[in-house]
Amino acid sequence: MSATARKTAPMPTDILAAKGGTPLVSLTAYTTPMARMMDDHCDFVLVGDSVGMVLHGLTSTLGVTMEMMILHGQAVARGLQKAMLVIDMPFGSYEESPEQAFRNAARLIRETGAAAVKLEGGVHMADTIAFLVARGVPVMAHVGLTPQAINTLGGYKVQGRADQAEALLADARAVADAGAFSVVLEKVPASLADRITADIAIPTIGIGASAGCDGQILVVDDMLGLFTAFKPKFVKRYAALGEDGEAAIAAYAADVRARSFPAQEHIFADEAPSKGPAS
Ligand code: KIV
Repeated sequence: MSATARKTAPMPTDILAAKGGTPLVSLTAYTTPMARMMDDHCDFVLVGDSVGMVLHGLTSTLGVTMEMMILHGQAVARGLQKAMLVIDMPFGSYEESPEQAFRNAARLIRETGAAAVKLEGGVHMADTIAFLVARGVPVMAHVGLTPQAINTLGGYKVQGRADQAEALLADARAVADAGAFSVVLEKVPASLADRITADIAIPTIGIGASAGCDGQILVVDDMLGLFTAFKPKFVKRYAALGEDGEAAIAAYAADVRARSFPAQEHIFADEAPSKGPAS
């Protein structure tokens, strides 16, 4: 799918139909300007709960609330016309029961205009996914490394190695059978990601998985070099905006201290010029 050629955003059914075709392109976004930058280039944009770590300085995603997701979801929605909007369900908003999940998914969709929600978990979330899908809530699943389970997983480790592989395959099958329209595979061995991609009928979206997945996603601040606290192995930095930004701030600070900013072109005369644009 090419977002540039489209006039309207795809639906979850279009994402599902893209299985096995041109790889799906996606990034996370948390603000309107970022969403505008990626609208022409992404098939879908995820308001990830990574917002807690990337923008709010939290040390995990566990402190992210519904209110944070809604605020950032609304901001991202204002920047998108061609890419589909997906929003993460934050920790504690869906695990208790299918009813709790529906209540919060409906609120996220109603208040942000997202086309779908994403939630973490495999076999144990399958009933909830089926419950949501039956009630009109498209679900993107997320298996492998599920950051909301960091305390039970014991760290941000690769998932599905050796004797864990069959369980991860079972997770992917369970969410596909439950009606998810796609599934994120995070931090799993490439050979297992390829096996899952060949095995299930819904698109796999890789992050630290394999180029053979049906699509890829990255955290935008990681790939732009804006988030520099650490760099996971699976991140490719396409820019160094963090370094460039700090250099620009240092240059501004030096200019201010040297009284070389503001310069003549940045200040106003006593009288407005008689012709030309207002200045
Ligand atoms: O929260 C997030 O950004 C995510 C992606 C990394 C898939 O879940």
